[in-house]
Amino acid sequence: MTSNELNPEELKAQGLQRAASAANESELKALEREYLGKGGVIQGLLSAIPTLEPSERGAAGKQANMLKGALSVAFEARSAELALEAVEGERLATGFDATMPAPGVERGSLHPITQVTRELEDLFHSMGYTILDGPEVETDHNNFEALNIPADHPARDSQDTFYCNKEGSLVLRTHTSPVQVRAMKHLKPPFRAVAPGKVFRQESTDASHEHTFHQMEGLVVGKDISVGHLIGAMKTLLAGIFGKEIEVRLRPGYFPFVEPGFELDARCPFCTEGCSVCKRTTWIELLPCGLVHPSVLRAGGIDPEEWSGFAFGLGLSRLVMLRFGIDDVRHLLSGDLRFLEQF
Ligand code: PHE
Repeated sequence: MTSNELNPEELKAQGLQRAASAANESELKALEREYLGKGGVIQGLLSAIPTLEPSERGAAGKQANMLKGALSVAFEARSAELALEAVEGERLATGFDATMPAPGVERGSLHPITQVTRELEDLFHSMGYTILDGPEVETDHNNFEALNIPADHPARDSQDTFYCNKEGSLVLRTHTSPVQVRAMKHLKPPFRAVAPGKVFRQESTDASHEHTFHQMEGLVVGKDISVGHLIGAMKTLLAGIFGKEIEVRLRPGYFPFVEPGFELDARCPFCTEGCSVCKRTTWIELLPCGLVHPSVLRAGGIDPEEWSGFAFGLGLSRLVMLRFGIDDVRHLLSGDLRFLEQF
C-alpha cells in the first residue's frame, strides 16, 4: 500500500513509526525528503486539495499542515537521538567519557623574586621613587667606565665579567649600577629612582653564589644630600620589608662610584640573641651604599657643585632568601616546581 492510498491518520502513524526507526542520519534525511520535500507526501496532499469538494478543502488543508508539523518534530527528535547514540558509540569504542569531570586547573603563582620585587616597587613608589629598567647586555662604558671603574682598575677583578663580544665593549651587566648612568642622562635632578633586575657574574656556584642573580639599584639626586638622608631612606625601606623598625649600622666599604662608601648592616629581624641567619652576630650584612662620587655625577651630565646624591645596591636575591628562609640561592632559578609550588 503506497502513502497515497492511506488516510491522513494512517499516514501520520506510518510516518512517525518510520522516523522513530530510522537507523542513521542518511536514512532519516531520505525519509524527510519523501514526506516533506518537493513532490513529497505532504505536497501531494496539498496539491490534491483543489480536486476536493469546496466544503472539504479547509479541513484537508488543516490536516495536511498538522501532519507536516508532527512529522517535522519527529524527524528532529530522531536526529537528536541519533547524534547522542553516535557519541555513546564513540565512547564505547574509545573509552572516552564526555560526562567525566574535567581535571582540575592547576593554579600557578608568582615567583618569590617577582613577589618581593613588586612589593619593593610599591614601597619605593609610595616614597616618590621612579621605577626604572635597563638592558641586561650593557656597554663596558655604562657598566664600568662611567662608574669610575677604568679598564685597569682593580675593582674589575671582583666583577668576574661575561663579555659578549671579542672587543669587550659589550658585557652582561655585573650589577644594576649602570642604570644609574642611564638615569642621570634621562632624569632631571632632583629625582629618586630604583631599578630592579638580573645581573650576571662569571663565578663558580655554591649555596650563596649564582652566576645570575637579582639586585635593586637605588639612586637619589638632590640638593645637599647627606649620609643622614641615606640612613633615613634605608630605615624606611627596612621597616617596609620587615614590618618593624630596624636598627642599622654603617661600616666603611669601597666602591669606586661612591665616596664615602659603606656596607650597611641591619639588626637581625629574626632574633635578639643571635641565630643561624645572622651567624650568631645579631647583624646581617644587607646592602652596599654611599654618596655618589662627583665624577660619576659629572659623567652623567650632572653638576656635582650643584647636586649631590646617594646610591644603594640592594641584593634582591639575598633579601628573598632572608624573607622566605631559603638556604640555597641556586633554588631561585632552578625552575624546580617542587620548590616554586611552595610560594
Ligand atoms: N653595584 C655594587 C655591586 O653590585 C653595589 C653598590 C651599589 C654599591 C650602589 C654602592 C652603591 O657590587
